[in-house]
Amino acid sequence: MEILGKKGSLTAVLRGIGGLPADDRPRVGAVANQVRTSIEAALVARGATLRAAELADRLATEAIDVTTPGRPVGRGALHPIIETMGRIEEIFGRFGFIVHEGPEVEDDLTNFQMLNIAPDHPARDLWDTLYVDVPGHLLRTHTSPLQIRVMQAYRPPIRALLPGRVFRYEAVDASHASEFFQVEGLMVDEGTTMGDLRGLLDEFSRAMFGRDKRTRFRPGYYPFTEPSVAFDVECLVCGGSGCPACSRTGWMTILGAGMVHPVVLQYGGLDPERYQGFAFGMGVERIANLSHGVADLRLYTENDLRFLEQFR
Ligand code: PHE
Repeated sequence: MEILGKKGSLTAVLRGIGGLPADDRPRVGAVANQVRTSIEAALVARGATLRAAELADRLATEAIDVTTPGRPVGRGALHPIIETMGRIEEIFGRFGFIVHEGPEVEDDLTNFQMLNIAPDHPARDLWDTLYVDVPGHLLRTHTSPLQIRVMQAYRPPIRALLPGRVFRYEAVDASHASEFFQVEGLMVDEGTTMGDLRGLLDEFSRAMFGRDKRTRFRPGYYPFTEPSVAFDVECLVCGGSGCPACSRTGWMTILGAGMVHPVVLQYGGLDPERYQGFAFGMGVERIANLSHGVADLRLYTENDLRFLEQFR
């Protein structure tokens, strides 16, 4: 700039040539041009050196080893609870059960009263409830209120599978969670019997746990089914001989079930003289525990990838 620029010293010399005596012009002109050529050449050379140095620097710092094996990109996988719910839905789907969903914030009427659980009914102790600020509303304690919603919305024959997140006021430990998943089933038609329920649950057990596993009904109690049963499968750990996993009984309880109580059918808008139904409800975490050998519920919500990656 200082030398070659518009106001540079060499430029001034070249411009001044015209004002020199005629004899001096060729000599001064030649020298000045020579100087300019050599300065320009030096600049080009210096530029090349700098670019070469920069290139060498980048080659050194940005070098990659193209022979290094690639890092695999994780494909992701379904959460074991979602995967288990999918399997349950698929199995009952074979029998024509259609999935319906409903609200997690439920009203007291549908969660309890229409299921034959009166406000002062002792059975309410079975469901330690989380209430919300809106009077008369709560976080559903089970998926059974969906029985009412489906009966009110559809006419028989009804075959509905009702999965969802449920909530209970629990001290969290390895076997208790304040949020977990249930899948409810409801069938209502003319002439539906307990035999239909048993047959369906046996098919479910065979598909889920294997054809060789024995099953049994045991008397149970729920206010919204009458009679009520617990459905047991032969212990998947010891095969029925008795071990710590089955409290030495040889059986594992898979779900609760029963014939829909006439009062519940009535709340659903159906005539109990004409229609009968059965319902069942199972805990998805429990089914997942049994089929994957998981012993601590908390693993499902901690989102530790070392745990979740095992279910790919
Ligand atoms: N709702 C019951 C529970 O939460 C399960 C159940 C559903 C029992 C349907 C009978 C019929 O434990």
